[in-house]
Amino acid sequence: MRHPLIAGNWKMHGLRAHAQRLAAEVASGVPAPQAVEVAICPPFVHLADAAASLAGSAVALGAQNVAPEAEGAHTGEVSAAMLADVGCRFVIVGHSERRQHYGDDDALVARRFRQAREAGLVPILCVGETLAEREADATATVVARQVDAVFAAVGANGFGDAVIAYEPVWAIGTGRTATPEQAQTVHAALRDRLAGHLGEAAAGVRLLYGGSMKPDNAAALLSMPDVDGGLIGGASLKAEDFLAICRAAA
Ligand code: G3H
Repeated sequence: MRHPLIAGNWKMHGLRAHAQRLAAEVASGVPAPQAVEVAICPPFVHLADAAASLAGSAVALGAQNVAPEAEGAHTGEVSAAMLADVGCRFVIVGHSERRQHYGDDDALVARRFRQAREAGLVPILCVGETLAEREADATATVVARQVDAVFAAVGANGFGDAVIAYEPVWAIGTGRTATPEQAQTVHAALRDRLAGHLGEAAAGVRLLYGGSMKPDNAAALLSMPDVDGGLIGGASLKAEDFLAICRAAA
């Protein structure tokens, strides 16, 4: 069966002391790793401190983005090899905030994905529709296009053990969560789409839900058959809330 994964995306929050403390609190409170895999994704500048706070714990480290090139004259970028070297196992690619505000189109997201895989990182590929797209009944088309773009770039063999996070844009940071049934419908469609690329291996791909997942709605979302975990924004900034979600997945 698929091993549940709960990943905290801290986004651009917190200074160094907060990152050190939060990582240590998560490390000391996580459920057994056999029950749930847990990861935190701090801002780049806090990765080394977070790695130190997580040392010896079962909590994995992830980054929030990765350069689309391997190395070179790319001012301000951080390579996949650098992320692996600082201790990252995961990296988020194609988060909707990057797609909406920083020009990350499908092709660029696919290049980031490829770099992550080539450095041995596990990409968490974010997909999801805007409210306008949902209202136009385009959800399935949009997430299929976002997934297909990655396969077009890396092929079925290049997908590896990547994770997909379904994050409806209208649910991110809004307090408006997809219902468990809405999430399940899209996750099932995603798994069908993956089957077209991966065949039977699609059954092993972890599909996370993200978008206002909180301690009080996590259990219902995670009870859906194709919801294999969560990508948690706001609720990952308080250890108590994040750990409650981790326990709900265990
Ligand atoms: O990456 C996380 C998602 O954007 C969800 O954020 O839990 O604050 O809605 P949120």
